[in-house]
Amino acid sequence: MGTLSHQQARQTYDRIGSLQDSQGFYEKCAAELVLLHGNFQSAESVFEFGFGTGRFALRLFEQYLSDTARYRGMDVSPKMVQLAESRLAVFSRRAEVILTEGGPPVDEPAGYYDRFVSNYVFDLLSHEDIRAVLREAHRMLRPNGLLCLSGLTSGTGFVSRIVAGVVSWVQTRWPSLVGGCRPVDLLPFLPESKWQLQHHSKVVAFGVPSEVVVAKKC
Ligand SMILES: C[S@@+](CC[C@H](N)C(=O)[O-])C[C@H]1O[C@@H](n2cnc3c(N)ncnc32)[C@H](O)[C@@H]1O
Repeated sequence: MGTLSHQQARQTYDRIGSLQDSQGFYEKCAAELVLLHGNFQSAESVFEFGFGTGRFALRLFEQYLSDTARYRGMDVSPKMVQLAESRLAVFSRRAEVILTEGGPPVDEPAGYYDRFVSNYVFDLLSHEDIRAVLREAHRMLRPNGLLCLSGLTSGTGFVSRIVAGVVSWVQTRWPSLVGGCRPVDLLPFLPESKWQLQHHSKVVAFGVPSEVVVAKKC
């Protein structure tokens, strides 16, 4: 199944811009679970891959992170970088948002971050990109650091299976209509030799199935 190229993802999310926040209606439950199981209160350094409008980062700063914790994020869309920058302006001394070309974060320091977060991004990446980003996440995290992921996934019941099927069908024909996203199951990408699962769940909101994974770097 084809996925958006990095250039197409950039164009798509530049176009979507602040409308991305309206996806909150089905992403909220999964985001809450990431926040619940990600133990962000104890994190001093957080990295986010594909931060969108900066909504999740703002929530971290306002409700979870300590006064000394730092955040760094990357996104392929200049529009999203602009939106996140203005949203996080009040925390600019501790928050850095970077525009990338869409590749994995190979230049980030090894063993530095306490958390590697990515919400609703892996579901638009190719399998090859998912593996490459996870390789970097593993390298970037400190020992015992947490990988915190959420995204669209395969359905768990009658309605959510139909919704997931429709999303997949649309994604193969008009990918930008669904932001390039399709259901992805993340566990097969997380070998036990590298990741120790701390939390895994699937939640369905408004018929849309999402998966949440929190895994510790082994
Ligand atoms: C569906 S949005 C999710 C945004 C945000 N994480 C949220 O949960 O609201 C996907 C985001 O990933 C970004 N993105 C897509 N492909 C990317 C890539 N290869 N590298 C970095 N960011 C990417 C998009 O620009 C967009 O901001």
